[in-house]
Amino acid sequence: MTSHKITILPGDGIGPEIMREVRRVMNWVEYAFDVSFNVTEGLIGGCSYEEHGEPLTDNTLSIARASDAILMGAVGGPQWDGKVEYAKRPEAGLLRLRKELDLFANLRPAMCFDALADASSLKHELVAGLDILFVRELAGGVYFGEPRGIEDLPGGGRVGINTQRYTDVEIIRISRVAFDMARKRSGRVHSAEKSNVMESGLLWREEVTKLHAAEYSDVALEHILADNCVMQLVKAPKQFDVILTDNLFGDLLSDAAAMLTGSLGMLPSASLGNGGPGLYEPVHGSAPDIAGQNLANPIAAVLSFAMALRYSLDMGDAADQVEAAIAKTLETGARTPDIWSEGTRRVGTHEMGDAIMTALKS
Ligand code: IPM
Ligand code: MG
Repeated sequence: MTSHKITILPGDGIGPEIMREVRRVMNWVEYAFDVSFNVTEGLIGGCSYEEHGEPLTDNTLSIARASDAILMGAVGGPQWDGKVEYAKRPEAGLLRLRKELDLFANLRPAMCFDALADASSLKHELVAGLDILFVRELAGGVYFGEPRGIEDLPGGGRVGINTQRYTDVEIIRISRVAFDMARKRSGRVHSAEKSNVMESGLLWREEVTKLHAAEYSDVALEHILADNCVMQLVKAPKQFDVILTDNLFGDLLSDAAAMLTGSLGMLPSASLGNGGPGLYEPVHGSAPDIAGQNLANPIAAVLSFAMALRYSLDMGDAADQVEAAIAKTLETGARTPDIWSEGTRRVGTHEMGDAIMTALKS
């Protein structure tokens, strides 16, 4: 029997309760596909800080590094905001994990399930059938650029500093991912930057253009300024197929796109490096306001596990079945509060898990 090593890092807030539902889906896949998942659970974020004084320990990092895939819930919460040394805040644990494993390619599919086309804040016809793939650079840019910090100014006052920095090599490797993905889809890439105000954006545009001409001229490429991209996303989202962008713009654009699909609770993500384990996490955060109340939507986490099956475990068939079960579940009318609308059935986190299990087994 094939065995896969999986690290699960539930994290903070709603992380543990959504990952509990993912575990049930994992058990079903083990049974249905005759594989076994050798699972190690670890701490990340605020819970790790409480236990070890670090948001990610070297030990957890090495366990994650040695696994085939890492499934994460979410990190952060108000109890640590501004109360913990900046370098030890929960989010720093996640950023360290991404950086240490060089997970530079973040894939964020924004798909609107038919059953949810009315849950979007946009009109039905604008979002029905929506299927966009964000390819977000994840290991560079202003999230990691030096110099950074908060400093006292000689004449009094303070300055906060961050640096947006991209090398040609970093731009080329993420662009390659976007072009390769586009070839498997409808063959179109929009590359979003701010080349009108930032040199890093200008280099981005030049390098994308060069790579496209040299190796990917069969793919249709359009450059778009990131601000215009946000506007176009809420105006006519279906014009997009693959959106290639940097770390910060990708963070913003993918949250905006999440709402097109009905809820932030629906969007999965995969973060891939050079052949090591991938990291799979929902795009949403730890939602401390609803944590522990059986209100969170586990679908983004379950869909993230489906991405792990597809991209790290070579189990595309199982991924298809999990995704189909989510569509089926939504058709039964089961809705967590974030996607609830008149005429549908309001369920909690665990009952949504039940509905997904029923759909898987049918
Ligand atoms: C995301 C999150 C993270 C990010 C935070 C939690 C560090 O917002 O994955 O979109 O900014 O990348
Ligand atoms: Mg974000």
